[in-house]
Amino acid sequence: MIKTANRIANVEEYYFSRKLAEVRGLDTPELRVINLGIGSPDQAPSSNAIDALIASAKNPANHGYQNYKGIPAFRKAIADFYQTTYQTTIDPETMILPLMGSKEGIMHIAMAFVNEGEEVLIPNPGYPTYSSVANLVGAKLRPYDLKEDLNWGIDIAALKKSDLSKVKIMWVNFPHMPTGRVASRAELKELVDLAREHQFLIVNDNPYSLVLNDNPMSILSIEGAEDVALELNSLSKSHNMAGWRLGWVAGKKELIEAVLKVKSNMDSGMFLGLQHAATEALKNGKEWFTSLNKVYAERKAVAQQLLDILGCTYSNDQSGLFVWAKAPAHITDVEKWIDEILYGTKVFITPGFIFGEAGRRYIRISLCCTVESLNQALTRVDAFLKKSAVSDLSTAKA
Ligand SMILES: Cc1ncc(COP(=O)(O)O)c(C=O)c1O
Repeated sequence: MIKTANRIANVEEYYFSRKLAEVRGLDTPELRVINLGIGSPDQAPSSNAIDALIASAKNPANHGYQNYKGIPAFRKAIADFYQTTYQTTIDPETMILPLMGSKEGIMHIAMAFVNEGEEVLIPNPGYPTYSSVANLVGAKLRPYDLKEDLNWGIDIAALKKSDLSKVKIMWVNFPHMPTGRVASRAELKELVDLAREHQFLIVNDNPYSLVLNDNPMSILSIEGAEDVALELNSLSKSHNMAGWRLGWVAGKKELIEAVLKVKSNMDSGMFLGLQHAATEALKNGKEWFTSLNKVYAERKAVAQQLLDILGCTYSNDQSGLFVWAKAPAHITDVEKWIDEILYGTKVFITPGFIFGEAGRRYIRISLCCTVESLNQALTRVDAFLKKSAVSDLSTAKA
């Protein structure tokens, strides 16, 4: 066997890449798996975006390599989106770099800014890619806790007291996945001030800003952010385009140029048809988001009923594509419990441990599933719990 590089020694295949293969294996025509795990929107993108892709793909002139920085119309559409959505002005020429989604940017930014041994602040719980990427670039991981008693806010006072001299990047992700927490402007300002004081890069990963959230905010709108902040954003969640791989990083020219140095050596621009489609999708107005969020709100109500049946507790005030909930106290091993539910009902729910140690007592339900499927999941889980209660009782009697 050829020996692998040391850098992958601490990195595992992405949890969903492994687990979903197992979940798919349980699927049978008699009883289909209901996957409440992953945040991959199931609704269609807007028809103007699809039409633009088709029209563009039909043009033989559109299939060559593209400019590494994307076409001006796409960058202008992103800048317009920032103005309308976040009341933030960004220069389309110099402050935007299109990406294959926000996930890709996490790697490029780490490659561009972090040296081996430098520290990276990572939310706990949080999106697992921040830590995998930190491991891949040989950084030292410094998880920072989001505290349930602070309504999943960051304990900024504790951070301030710690030694931040070796920190190179702080990843933040508001609205936060998996807890659904939205940061206030004051909190973001405090974090930006901290980044300025200690001269580290603060990156807000912002793909959920328009899902069940009344106050979309960009870190780039915070006073003082321009020198120390980048923002990742994406059409995956807000525009139902997760599989298209469309996103971007925005920020100061010099920071974007550093990311471009890495990215332009890794791929060769984005298919023009995708850029045309994204340009159209970004024109979707208020009605698009109102109808999208109406669907998610209906689903959320059923997801909460399911959580009630499971005996979980949760906050009503969560943004984004998921409901995050605490398992009942009598469940000692939440991962095992989730597997028992999966094998007993073919309903898959994400166990919170995959988001870090602070998620160990929690579970996450995705809203990327129809009301009908959520209702079916509810019926199955209810029957399973009743059956388990009867068998527990008979075991106790025996
Ligand atoms: C916090 C967070 N960041 C980034 C991503 C990846 O998004 P994209 O599809 O834009 O790469 C996800 C997807 O689940 C996410 O939850």
